[in-house]
Amino acid sequence: MEYLMFCFVFSCWVKFANCVYSTDAPQAPAPIPKDKLLVLTVATEETDGFLRFMQSANYFNYTVKVLGMGETWKGGDVGRSIGGGQKVRLLKEAMEALADQEDLVVLSVDSYDLVFSGGPEEILRKFQQANHKVLFAAEGLIWPDKKLAEKYPAIRSGKRYLNSGGIIGFAPYINRVVSQWNLHDNDDDQLFYTKMYLDPLQRQTLNMTLDHKCQIFQNLNGAVDEVLLKFGTDRVRVRNTVYDSLPVVVHGNGNTKIYLNSLANYVPNTWNYELGCSHCDDDIVDLSQLKEYPNVLVGVFIEQPTPFLPEFFKRLLTLDYPKDKLNIFVHNNEVYHEKHIQKFWQENRNVFNTFKVVGPEENLSQGEARNMGMDICRKDATCDYYFSLDTDVMLTNRQTLKLLIEQNRKIIGPLVTRHGKLWSNFWGALSLDGYYARSEDYVDIVQRKRVGMWNIPFMAHVYLVKGSALRNELKERNVFVLEKLDPDMALCRNVREMTSHREKDSPSPESFHMLRPPKGVFMYITNRHDFGRLISTANYNISHYNNDLWQIFQNPVDWKEKYIHQNYTQIFTENYMEEPCPDVFWFPVFSEKACDEIVEEMEHYGSWSGGKHEDKRISGGYETVPTDDIHMRQIGYDKEWLHFIREFISPITLKVFSGYFTKGYSIMNFVVKYTPERQAYLRPHHDSSTFTINIALNNKDTDFQGGGCRFHRYNCSLNSPRKGWSFMHPGRLTHLHEGLPTTNGTRYIAISFIDP
Ligand SMILES: *[C@@H]1O[C@H](CO)[C@@H](O)[C@H](O)[C@H]1NC(C)=O
Ligand SMILES: *[C@@H]1O[C@H](CO)[C@@H](O)[C@H](O)[C@H]1NC(C)=O
Ligand SMILES: *[C@@H]1O[C@H](CO)[C@@H](O)[C@H](O)[C@H]1NC(C)=O
Ligand SMILES: *[C@@H]1O[C@H](CO)[C@@H](O)[C@H](O)[C@H]1NC(C)=O
Ligand SMILES: *[C@@H]1O[C@H](CO)[C@@H](O)[C@H](O)[C@H]1NC(C)=O
Ligand SMILES: *[C@@H]1O[C@H](CO)[C@@H](O)[C@H](O)[C@H]1NC(C)=O
Ligand SMILES: *[C@@H]1O[C@H](CO)[C@@H](O)[C@H](O)[C@H]1NC(C)=O
Repeated sequence: MEYLMFCFVFSCWVKFANCVYSTDAPQAPAPIPKDKLLVLTVATEETDGFLRFMQSANYFNYTVKVLGMGETWKGGDVGRSIGGGQKVRLLKEAMEALADQEDLVVLSVDSYDLVFSGGPEEILRKFQQANHKVLFAAEGLIWPDKKLAEKYPAIRSGKRYLNSGGIIGFAPYINRVVSQWNLHDNDDDQLFYTKMYLDPLQRQTLNMTLDHKCQIFQNLNGAVDEVLLKFGTDRVRVRNTVYDSLPVVVHGNGNTKIYLNSLANYVPNTWNYELGCSHCDDDIVDLSQLKEYPNVLVGVFIEQPTPFLPEFFKRLLTLDYPKDKLNIFVHNNEVYHEKHIQKFWQENRNVFNTFKVVGPEENLSQGEARNMGMDICRKDATCDYYFSLDTDVMLTNRQTLKLLIEQNRKIIGPLVTRHGKLWSNFWGALSLDGYYARSEDYVDIVQRKRVGMWNIPFMAHVYLVKGSALRNELKERNVFVLEKLDPDMALCRNVREMTSHREKDSPSPESFHMLRPPKGVFMYITNRHDFGRLISTANYNISHYNNDLWQIFQNPVDWKEKYIHQNYTQIFTENYMEEPCPDVFWFPVFSEKACDEIVEEMEHYGSWSGGKHEDKRISGGYETVPTDDIHMRQIGYDKEWLHFIREFISPITLKVFSGYFTKGYSIMNFVVKYTPERQAYLRPHHDSSTFTINIALNNKDTDFQGGGCRFHRYNCSLNSPRKGWSFMHPGRLTHLHEGLPTTNGTRYIAISFIDP
């Protein structure tokens, strides 16, 4: 950022100096009026790239004539092999009518992979300064015939070779160039222009030159390292740092389409610091104006054991969208999750319009399953949108689906990130071999320092696709299976490249990029709202009974949401706590779920100690005041429990015993079971702790009768424990206490002797 600002100031200064110099020059010709510039471009289809080109042209008020719209493209896959002759043929036809307009300047440019970053006046001024009748774009790489390199005139500096993606010249001269075309539509346009340019006689009579120093044309191929974004107050430019120029036409030729996409997220006025995103509200669909909400097929993918699946389904249920417009397709690859789906389905089978599950018995690969889901929408003409949602996505924003539909893009995903991490569901750039590379703006987008809609090369986990796009641009059915790529990478590559026919052989890393045809559907990620987060599925151990309890380290936010009492934070904000006896503090800490799952986990384990004095689990092997209990360590929960104490109990200690800083350390952590049939009460005792927590895990009157705790020194009893609430009291000296008898049912409490 600082670096960019520096460049900005520096280049202003240089520009100013140039400017003063050139107006002083005595022979400066009168400027060409801007209405004397006509832009000609060939486009056979209104691809996303074409629409972007037109948007930039309209922004600068260029007069554009589009040639060939609706024609079948016969020019080959430009960039894949030679081709593009159709462009010259169409230009030749168009120039016939313009040939005698001597003061008309024609700018012929590609459009699928090109944007303007400056206006007509600037282009005309620079064209005049070049002092030639015809000016071609230049690049540092020679294509398509390397053997022609030596025939190029020598230059002292700058880019040596011709690129036909941009040509500017006076109409009669352009006409004389293209009227020589007599080849086929699939012959190479660049070779045609190159041969003409390399002919010294033609070069002189047609007064042709190249834009060696990127004054007008910036070809990005081979030049990615030369360019920087230069942010101004109302627009953003590309600056060539080698020639210190501000090119007007930016062309993502060769393998730089994705790089152009990322530049065009800013250039010319897509996003800047002052105004933010200027096109984010273009073409918005106002859902409230529609007679009916669109039909959406939601594809839900459970491809590996995933924590918090019941919570995922709960969020699906609370999405703000008419449920009768939602059809659900679930692919579940995990036997472990069948019980969760079964439960959800039993409780909500009639909520959605349809609900279909493909289970692990089908043995579908992930790619096959994703193809199947997408295909259901593709084949159903009433399916307006396909919303693909992996179960590791927690959409905390209930409006997500509506917000995405309103953006009206062919493919758009909401930004979701791993809590507190830079990990997200998109890539801002690709490495040469097609894998992850970090774009310069990645961190700012993830952290929502730049807010908008971003054209990106890869996304996964959650995205919305228009049904109409599935039936047109993306009608290829097998989009999730491609070579050895994982399914998301296969999808994104197919979408980016939109190959009409598949590569048969696996291309080499370089050719992977060279073989990029000019079409392609833009994929967007939006971070205009907070949508939710990605959870971690790594190291999810499903060998316990309630496995999410163990997720306190991997997914702390979801763990807290599921297991910590709703009003816990009010302890700090509103002093939400009670002191029923002196120095006995009482506060909410666990949710109902936490209590139930801990009890279930213990009963599932089942080896209660029986309340005997002999106890092999403790050092010394003898317990003077034994309870009928199970230690956290016995179920493998000691590390997690201590973390819970440090995260959720220590801050309360600090609050109520001010000046005492707990180490949050505890050896004795256990769940006690009181029942008249086994152990019903505990005789008066001190705890071997500085302070003790005692959390009620079930409800008096519904689950048991009796129970409670009495502190002798104060003759103070707590007779109505509340499920999920904890007592905290000093362990020794002042707080001799006893467990009052449970008279019926079973009472469970969780105890920790902290700082023994
Ligand atoms: C384009 O034309 C409109 C209408 O005449 C004008 O308001 C706008 O400023 C022009 N844009 C540029 C970049 O010159
Ligand atoms: C090209 O044309 C310009 C005028 O537009 C003229 O000044 C220049 O000498 C010409 N160059 C050549 C090589 O003919
Ligand atoms: C499931 O599919 C895989 C590969 O597709 C195959 O190796 C495996 O044998 C199949 N398992 C069953 C139970 O059909
Ligand atoms: C999963 O938990 C079980 C039971 O605590 C344990 O035996 C096993 O080692 C754990 N597996 C992994 C991979 O951590
Ligand atoms: C949290 O507190 C509010 C009132 O402050 C109460 O209505 C609500 O039931 C409490 N939540 C729980 C889970 O007890
Ligand atoms: C303790 O309190 C109870 C009532 O809460 C009372 O009946 C009893 O006399 C008290 N005992 C002593 C020793 O103060
Ligand atoms: C004990 O609890 C059970 C059910 O929880 C109830 O049916 C029974 O009446 C209770 N017994 C007494 C003595 O309260």
